[in-house]
Amino acid sequence: MSISRTHLMVVGLLLCLSNGVSPAAERLPTDYWHQPLAPQGKAPRAWTPEERSLAPESCGGCHSDRLEEWRTSLHARAFSPGLVGQLLTYDAADTAVCMQCHAPLAEQREAFEAARRTAEGHSGIGHGLADAGNSCGGCHLRGHRRFGPPQRDTGAVGQSDASAPHGGVMRVPEFEKSEFCAACHQFPQEQAINGKPLENTLVEWEQSPAARSGTTCQSCHMPERKHLWRGIHDPDMVRSGLTPEFVAKPEAAQFRLTSTGIGHAFPTYVTPKVIMKGVALDQSGSPVPSSEVHYVIWREVASVDGDWIERSDTRLLPGQSATLEIAWPMSGRVKFWLEVHPDDFYHQHVYDNLLHELAADSASAKLIAEANRIAKASQFSLFEKVVQRP
Ligand code: HEC
Ligand code: HEC
Ligand code: HEC
Ligand code: HEC
Ligand code: HEC
Repeated sequence: MSISRTHLMVVGLLLCLSNGVSPAAERLPTDYWHQPLAPQGKAPRAWTPEERSLAPESCGGCHSDRLEEWRTSLHARAFSPGLVGQLLTYDAADTAVCMQCHAPLAEQREAFEAARRTAEGHSGIGHGLADAGNSCGGCHLRGHRRFGPPQRDTGAVGQSDASAPHGGVMRVPEFEKSEFCAACHQFPQEQAINGKPLENTLVEWEQSPAARSGTTCQSCHMPERKHLWRGIHDPDMVRSGLTPEFVAKPEAAQFRLTSTGIGHAFPTYVTPKVIMKGVALDQSGSPVPSSEVHYVIWREVASVDGDWIERSDTRLLPGQSATLEIAWPMSGRVKFWLEVHPDDFYHQHVYDNLLHELAADSASAKLIAEANRIAKASQFSLFEKVVQRP
């Protein structure tokens, strides 16, 4: 059983968005994130093909900066080989559950089901709008109506001029709130393992100093409203959240890592594995492999006889530190570094298991093999430092 199978239990989340003081007309409809999303329906007759289109490229004809940013993000790649390789083995009902978060528009579900009835659909490319993944429409459109944050310079909320392209926009404060991200980044409590859902990011944030200081998901992941959403797959983003310290103590060298700029557990999801490592160097400066020490930062879950259990949770909450020590070798020099494996669980467990189950020449197996290559290649190292005995 793969970890994603657990997602199958996900039911539509009805978001309880926090109560502002603005009148109802200037609020996000309470069923905005009722998943699965309803079809957009017919666009107003007077609209141009560009205004009617749900394709990100069409939005980008007028919002080119947002399109260019989004294209580099994982949201644009959410209809990934690792996902589609699994969807091709599911029926439409199960597929629809996964697509709520990975390609959320009703029109994307239709496009995928239509494509897989044809030969191209099985090649893993050419699912039409589904391939756009978590695209503009999923966050900004309901019934073809545009919703967005308060106007950038004026802070204006409410419906803008209906004579503007696509009939203007409904500007609401909820777009600037962390709760906006919860529909997909906070899994339901019913699926908790040891009290915590597999992805518990909103709850972790609510309990963090970031929440108390008004620092939202958007503050860190969409600075200046940029649609980049960098996370654990991005070395600079990970570096920005951590403070490493290296101490040469009389008896040992020490590597201390503190979570100083992350608004949730580090890492927040169950799939990454982060390892602090240290190794003695010999007189010529080469590492002595037998001396290697390490400390693992992760939430380790496993499926035992079909039931999910938590083996350990050593993730760093905001402000917490982890420490690794290594006794001084003869040379008086040791090397420390941090290894980040963003997709460890998929690479070590999910994909290998799937590859055993799937027929080797199937379209699914080819996609999963590709996903496995991507997962393996995502690892990187940070903070490499040689420490000298005083
Ligand atoms: C023909 C050009 C055009 C296309 C195509 C277009 N937009 Fe817009 N969009 C505009 C203009 C102009 C505004 C400013 C409207 C206003 O101020 O009333 C706007 C405003 C917005 C806003 C609010 C930004 C702000 O100024 O506060 C959002 C969000 C938005 N559009 C999303 C989209 C999405 C999503 C798509 C594609 C599904 C899209 N737009 C397609 C021209 C376009
Ligand atoms: C419709 C569902 C949905 C919404 C809404 C959503 N996300 Fe995501 N997000 C996803 C999915 C699915 C992925 C994983 C994409 C992939 O790699 O396949 C993701 C990936 C990410 C990542 C990259 C994680 C990594 O592993 O590096 C970040 C950061 C992120 N989202 C932040 C946000 C923030 C902040 C918001 C709110 C403004 C938000 N997301 C709203 C579904 C969503
Ligand atoms: C409630 C929203 C949600 C649902 C439902 C969901 N996912 Fe995800 N999925 C995510 C998020 C969010 C991430 C990225 C996690 C992160 O980085 O924090 C993700 C990551 C993944 C990834 C790894 C990234 C990639 O795209 O290769 C795979 C594979 C995946 N999901 C498959 C599935 C499958 C299969 C299903 C249905 C059985 C499913 N998901 C259902 C939200 C969801
Ligand atoms: C995962 C959800 C999500 C997706 C996908 C998404 N947006 Fe946004 N968008 C937001 C949020 C949230 C904000 C407000 C951010 C803030 O206020 O900090 C926003 C803001 C905007 C704005 C207003 C920017 C400004 O400067 O005032 C525009 C325009 C926009 N998005 C267009 C797009 C387009 C075009 C796409 C696709 C290429 C897209 N968005 C994809 C969530 C999303
Ligand atoms: C104070 C800044 C900050 C805030 C607030 C914040 N994040 Fe992050 N986030 C980070 C940094 C830095 C990383 C990279 C390190 C890591 O993976 O934890 C990250 C990583 C992530 C990831 C990558 C997956 C993983 O396992 O770590 C996701 C998904 C994510 N954040 C979503 C969110 C959501 C959703 C919110 C709001 C509920 C949020 N973040 C609030 C800074 C922040």
